[in-house]
Amino acid sequence: MISPAVNAAYDVESLRAEFPVLGEQVHGKSLVYFDNAATTQKPKQVIEAVDHYYRAYNSNVHRGAHMLSSLATEAQENAREALRAHINARRAHEVVFTAGTTASLNMAAGSLGQLLLKPGDEVLVTAMEHHANIVPWQFACERHGAKLKVVPITGEGELDLPVIPGLPRNPGLFTDQPGQAPNPGLFTDRTKILAIAHVSNTLGTINPVKELVAEAKRRGIATVVDGAQAIAHLPVDVQDLGCDLYAFSGHKMYAPTGIGVLYGREELLEQMPPWSGGGEMIDRVTFERTTYAGLPFKFEAGTPHIAGIIGLGAAVNWIESRGKEAMAAHEEALLEHATETLSAIDGLRIIGTAAKKVGVVSFVVEGVHHSDLGTLLDQQGIAVRTGHHCTQPLMQCFNITGTTRASFAPYNTIGEVDAMVAATRRAVNMLR
Ligand code: ALA
Repeated sequence: MISPAVNAAYDVESLRAEFPVLGEQVHGKSLVYFDNAATTQKPKQVIEAVDHYYRAYNSNVHRGAHMLSSLATEAQENAREALRAHINARRAHEVVFTAGTTASLNMAAGSLGQLLLKPGDEVLVTAMEHHANIVPWQFACERHGAKLKVVPITGEGELDLPVIPGLPRNPGLFTDQPGQAPNPGLFTDRTKILAIAHVSNTLGTINPVKELVAEAKRRGIATVVDGAQAIAHLPVDVQDLGCDLYAFSGHKMYAPTGIGVLYGREELLEQMPPWSGGGEMIDRVTFERTTYAGLPFKFEAGTPHIAGIIGLGAAVNWIESRGKEAMAAHEEALLEHATETLSAIDGLRIIGTAAKKVGVVSFVVEGVHHSDLGTLLDQQGIAVRTGHHCTQPLMQCFNITGTTRASFAPYNTIGEVDAMVAATRRAVNMLR
């Protein structure tokens, strides 16, 4: 019997009590929610903050010369400050509110592409990117005559990287190191932008973003980090990472859907052209010429998702009250236990065995289709995601069509992992 290394001091039951949905039943069974990489559940503090805004001071921001508008504006800007502190940005106006990671990355690719890309230039992404960090760059490359290049991965699901300090991997990323054959897939003197996931949504791999960003900076390359899967699980310090832009969503960190952030280093945001036009983002409009508002409003056209922003601020406060590190340590125990117990199932293969991972376990089972397995798990009340997880190129690397993915949150328990493993075993026996 495998004994999981859980921390007895971690009070998972009191944490679970803060999430109303966890008391629900699915198909007559207690809900086991393991689809946290798709979206996390919401604690009552977030639900109540949103509810309170709509009940007590619903109003537009930055426009009305009235009390409710002032309250809404204050709540929005308090949330911006909470986010600034949470990611250690230097200034609150480096936090731009968007509709989510996808919107942030589209803005990054559109605006940065316009600023930096010329015909023949290159944008470097990795083989493990989510479609949201591929397709917007393909748009930008098509628009500006640039080329998309891809950092390959290893069989473990780690980036296949060169020897640079802190990265003991294959040489070959950099074409200008003496004695190395040029590697046409990677950094060259035409590379203008590196766009990379902090954590893979499918594999759980934590990428060495700080080291890559340092190397890119040394070469004058702009750096964009997709932080969607990192923000709820890792301490994120944008100054320490050194990146230019960092994108993430609220809904993967216990906040509502439809709200996200694009952090940008002030000097770069100042240079980047606005990406959406409309109200709020202007200074002065005439039919001849428009001048733009200062940061962050230059990038926030239209009425923002005020309730979402307030919910996101409440989510940040909730995370900080619980402690990200304690929650991450609990998730790691869940990951270890799930990895060990799932691996014991005959014919089951884990996809993504990197040395550094967050609580995501993706797997395939010989002779079993992932969607059949997902359906049978759902009938047991166990919610997982199946399919390609918006990473089709990554699936091609592993020569598979999809996986079953369980992704953990601080409210999950070892007992739930055991229930999933037992249900998987039963399902596999039925399906083979
Ligand atoms: N990007 C989300 C996921 O990985 C939706 O499930």
